[in-house]
Amino acid sequence: MPESVNSAVRDKLKQRLRFYEDLGLAPFYRHPAARAEARSESLVTAAAAPSSSEETTLPNNSRNPQPAPPLTVASAAKSFPPASAGPSLFEASHRIVDDTLLKIREDLGDCTRCKLHRTRNQIVFGDGSPQAQLVFVGEGPGADEDAQGLPFVGRAGKLLTQMIEAMGLTRRDVYICNVVKCRPPENRTPEKDEVATCSPYLFRQLDVLKPRVIVCLGSVAAQTLLETNRGISHFRGEWMNFRGYKLLATYHPAYLLRNPGAKGEVWKDLQKVMAELGLAVRKTKAK
Ligand code: URA
Repeated sequence: MPESVNSAVRDKLKQRLRFYEDLGLAPFYRHPAARAEARSESLVTAAAAPSSSEETTLPNNSRNPQPAPPLTVASAAKSFPPASAGPSLFEASHRIVDDTLLKIREDLGDCTRCKLHRTRNQIVFGDGSPQAQLVFVGEGPGADEDAQGLPFVGRAGKLLTQMIEAMGLTRRDVYICNVVKCRPPENRTPEKDEVATCSPYLFRQLDVLKPRVIVCLGSVAAQTLLETNRGISHFRGEWMNFRGYKLLATYHPAYLLRNPGAKGEVWKDLQKVMAELGLAVRKTKAK
């Protein structure tokens, strides 16, 4: 690192590097020359290992390319293997080869990477089918989720379950997760640093699931995946793209509990999703 970089910036960069190393992303921030050097070293020491370009290329014409592992979240939470070296999560072309939900859960471990760990009871990783074609992404766990370790099991969760059932599906047909995996104190909105720390795990989950449709519940999920500060009302109900996946943002069920008059709009959004997935659109709506 050049001397001209002052020590505060140097410390920040070190912190950031440590964070990426934790995630197994060390090569992301390396100078290309250093990266090439590291690659040739690793090729010498591990002749049988695939090259990094092979490692970062996924067949993208198949959903769920690896056999879905039985996700034993509780057992994964107990063992924390060293972070594996890997590519950037922030470029769609750099996906982690052979990633699985179980590996992601193991990498998360007993996470202390952001301040939310201090007040949480349980990490809420996600729930549902690893083969799901439809993924719902919420904001972060509330009190019930924090107590049970499962997403959307409180009042808002009950409404989400009704919405899913009104679509002719069950919770076991879909996958449900959040932007942050730990409950923010007093259910406050997750802060920028918390979202930045946790969202790479969400991106990995989505890249493993390869859903046909992602539904963002509320502005935090939508703004995180779409990298925008625009209010959700500007793009709610419109098809958007997230790393090649079809994404539609709608209001959060907690908002619907406060504003039941908005349920009709959400139902219209869900009908769009149903049409996209080839599900029979019925006249009833979530009550
Ligand atoms: N709200 C969310 O955004 N996520 C949950 O899991 C529960 C409530």
